[in-house]
Amino acid sequence: MDALELLLNRTSEPKLEAPAPAGDALETLYQAAFRVPDHGLLQPYRFVVIAGEGRSRLGQVCLKALLQQNPDADDKAKDKAAHLFERAPMVMAVISNVKEHPKVPVFEQLVTAGLAAHAMQMAAVAQGFGGIWRTGSYATDYHVRQALGVEGEDEILGFLYLGTPVKSKFKVPRPDSSAFVSQF
Ligand SMILES: Cc1cc2nc3c(=O)[nH]c(=O)nc-3n(C[C@H](O)[C@H](O)[C@H](O)COP(=O)(O)O)c2cc1C
Repeated sequence: MDALELLLNRTSEPKLEAPAPAGDALETLYQAAFRVPDHGLLQPYRFVVIAGEGRSRLGQVCLKALLQQNPDADDKAKDKAAHLFERAPMVMAVISNVKEHPKVPVFEQLVTAGLAAHAMQMAAVAQGFGGIWRTGSYATDYHVRQALGVEGEDEILGFLYLGTPVKSKFKVPRPDSSAFVSQF
């Protein structure tokens, strides 16, 4: 796929089915992530693949979190929490892994980790797959962080839902650039 075509036409795809990237295709996602701009080459990210029954196991963690926040949650909310990660055949948790560095502040490392998530999504699209980057309240939840081994100032920057688009979503319109650009 032409690079500009990808940049200008990428969309997020919420409706996903199998197959998800695997083997060489999945490795390509990691390699795309490793290629993003990275001040100090700190590689301030790590990835956790949530697939197969891992999706329902993490869903149970969300359910526990929900019930702790709201013991009276209704069945619909409980069902949603338990099956959250089953909306795609694979979910890639993109987690920052910030390092101490005299010249590279935390915010720069978070940007790099975010770029890695985007690069992975783009690499998926370029190979005929689709995905959507989601966070939601569980991305900051204590139980979910614990389950994924997230500590200190590190963050779950997103859950990248990956698979094959069932039906392409309409393209969200983008604004005219003039509203975002000024001259100095
Ligand atoms: C950090 C981050 C978190 C996001 N979290 C969510 C989310 O929890 N739920 C959601 O529907 N979209 C979320 N989005 C937005 C979608 O990924 C997507 O960009 C949006 O639906 C617009 O669609 P498009 O990418 O096709 O233009 C998030 C995006 C980013 C960058």
